[in-house]
Amino acid sequence: MSRIEQLIGAMTLGEKLGQLTMTAAPYAVTGPFVAGDITAGIKSGAIGNLLNLYGPDTVAKTQRLAVEETRLGIPLLIGLDVIHGHRTLFPVPLGEAAAFDPALWTATARAAAREAAADGVHLTFAPMCDVCRDPRWGRIVEGPGEDPFVGAAIAAAKVAGFQGSNLEGIAACAKHFAAYGAVTAGREYASTDISARTLQEVHLPAFAAAVAAGVATIMPAFTELGGVPMTAHKELLTDYLRGELGFEGVIISDYNAIAELLHHGVAADLAEAAALALQAGIDIDMMAGAYGSGLPIALERGLVSLAQVDAAVRRVLILKERLGLFKDPCRGAGVEAAEMVAQRRVLARAAAAKSAVLLKNDDGVLPLAKPHRIALIGPLGDAAEEMRGCWAAAAPMTGCVSVVEGLRAALPDTKIDHAQGVTIDGGDTSGIAKAVTLCDGADAIILCVGEAANMSGEAASRAHPHLPGLQQALCDAVFATGRPVITILFSGRPLIVPALAEKSAALLAAWFPGSEAGNAIADLITGKVSPSGRTPISWPRATGQIPVFFGERNGGRPFNAADHYTSKYLDSENTPLFVFGHGLSYGRFVFSNLRLSAATLTEKGAVTVQVDVANDGARAAEETIFLFTHDKVAQVTRPLLELKGFGKIALEPGARGTASLTLRGTDLRFPGPRLTPWFEPGEVEICLGTAADRTQLLTATITLVAQ
Ligand code: NOJ
Repeated sequence: MSRIEQLIGAMTLGEKLGQLTMTAAPYAVTGPFVAGDITAGIKSGAIGNLLNLYGPDTVAKTQRLAVEETRLGIPLLIGLDVIHGHRTLFPVPLGEAAAFDPALWTATARAAAREAAADGVHLTFAPMCDVCRDPRWGRIVEGPGEDPFVGAAIAAAKVAGFQGSNLEGIAACAKHFAAYGAVTAGREYASTDISARTLQEVHLPAFAAAVAAGVATIMPAFTELGGVPMTAHKELLTDYLRGELGFEGVIISDYNAIAELLHHGVAADLAEAAALALQAGIDIDMMAGAYGSGLPIALERGLVSLAQVDAAVRRVLILKERLGLFKDPCRGAGVEAAEMVAQRRVLARAAAAKSAVLLKNDDGVLPLAKPHRIALIGPLGDAAEEMRGCWAAAAPMTGCVSVVEGLRAALPDTKIDHAQGVTIDGGDTSGIAKAVTLCDGADAIILCVGEAANMSGEAASRAHPHLPGLQQALCDAVFATGRPVITILFSGRPLIVPALAEKSAALLAAWFPGSEAGNAIADLITGKVSPSGRTPISWPRATGQIPVFFGERNGGRPFNAADHYTSKYLDSENTPLFVFGHGLSYGRFVFSNLRLSAATLTEKGAVTVQVDVANDGARAAEETIFLFTHDKVAQVTRPLLELKGFGKIALEPGARGTASLTLRGTDLRFPGPRLTPWFEPGEVEICLGTAADRTQLLTATITLVAQ
């Protein structure tokens, strides 16, 4: 008999439920409450898994309790939110999505996994796979942006990065399953109610990609979907994930989510809640205490069976075994070599530079030619702590490079004067005059404005996703000098900033860049690195436009300026301020000669799509190429543009090259009239270019044919 079956045979009910329980240690506070002393619980076998514990010595000490002082000696599984780095911070996920670079996505996850593993962590609650089209939702910062194809690509890259090929990294957790990004009105934890088609087309693909990549665990969302809380959603957790996708890993509830089934109003007491969750397919109860106290009653009432408990325990033990915890409960945790840590900072700097999106650059104001004096204005110019971003569970408060530090290091001969003018969300304008005075005689004015790091992330929805506080007044005063202003915008979401975009000569969306923020920004500002980020999300012009996204459908009365009775606003354009994919570099790219390797495509076939690219600019740079399709006539309506691929090309000034992307027949499947996979013969438009702007795309047509 295997070790796992022997253990299950030897376990008491209490010990089994302990393996299905995950309790928070107080090393990082990521939920509304933290359990008291966990020592007694571990020793009695009532706690089999922990979250929010790290540090090699602490982990070793705690593991010893489980391995040496419990009856069966089963090691603990230790999880932590290693979201965009552990001690070294990479850009926030929405920012890193802008890099459109799967190798980078994998590399940063691998680096974070190594760093976390050295700290005794076995499991990260990442990647967050929630596609979102509503910038009011604070958690948009943790995800891939608006597009399901990007969501799937990131999910696959991150799972590979965190886990490695055979869990030699740390276990990943695809979360929050599913459609959390569609919360009503962008309000955190609110309910979700979307069509089965939107669920399939938009919200499930990233999870399917994570499962295909071998993700070890999945976490359901806090939210309900069409009246069924995800924590109790048997149809999606068991029938879809385990049945259709063949997911064999562990499903871990979100923080206290099983107890919250009482608030949802689907369970009358903790025993019912625990039974619903176990029946739905949840193996581990994070922080609700529902399995420990509710399942014994549920068993007595006949709501669940011991076989169901055993199946969940088996999955948890298999994960512990796969991670090698029975052999080495600390998995070699220990202090890392300084060189390893230094290498990670190099990666963090490159990642931050690749993630920033140059939204505007009039008259080539960037890069800066060695200025004598820079006036650096704004509350985010000297804000190292804010650079950390939304999830910095284990990173030190002081570990990030601020913009002013980065610029001073990059430009030692330039005088850099900083005035914050206003605080991020304060009400005091008395510092504005001094900030404006500082601009007098400066060769360059750099404005650093935006959100605080804690204004996005969990429980951080905003009904007014504009510049907070009185920063707009500061910006207006600086613009009133009439001088060209370079604005660096920090945010965890696309902010609604039409005035800032109009009046800035250059606008760089830096998101929250992480540990190497200031150095990476200096690399871009000085031209050491050409910007290459592209926005993975549309930037609305007005809150009333939300959700605005490129994958819209045409409708029966698409906008026509000459016809009043068409789809539009009386007081805003339909288009976003910045469209998905938009982003400038210091090069100037021209695309021509779009061609396909074949005129027809079968469901099992593939075509190569090629385009010639020239860099007519004066600097070396990298361009991103997006491949969209549009199925004009089908049995169900299709989005005006669907992303099917992206790639990059780097060219020296004056150089030419060819970009090639592959389009497979299976990429053109969609959920048919009955929501089953559907491949419909007929013509499909291939649209290629640098952003989801129809007017700028090169187009060709391919004919889909039956086998
Ligand atoms: C709640 C969050 O929703 C989830 O993303 C996170 O992993 C857990 N807390 C644990 O911190």
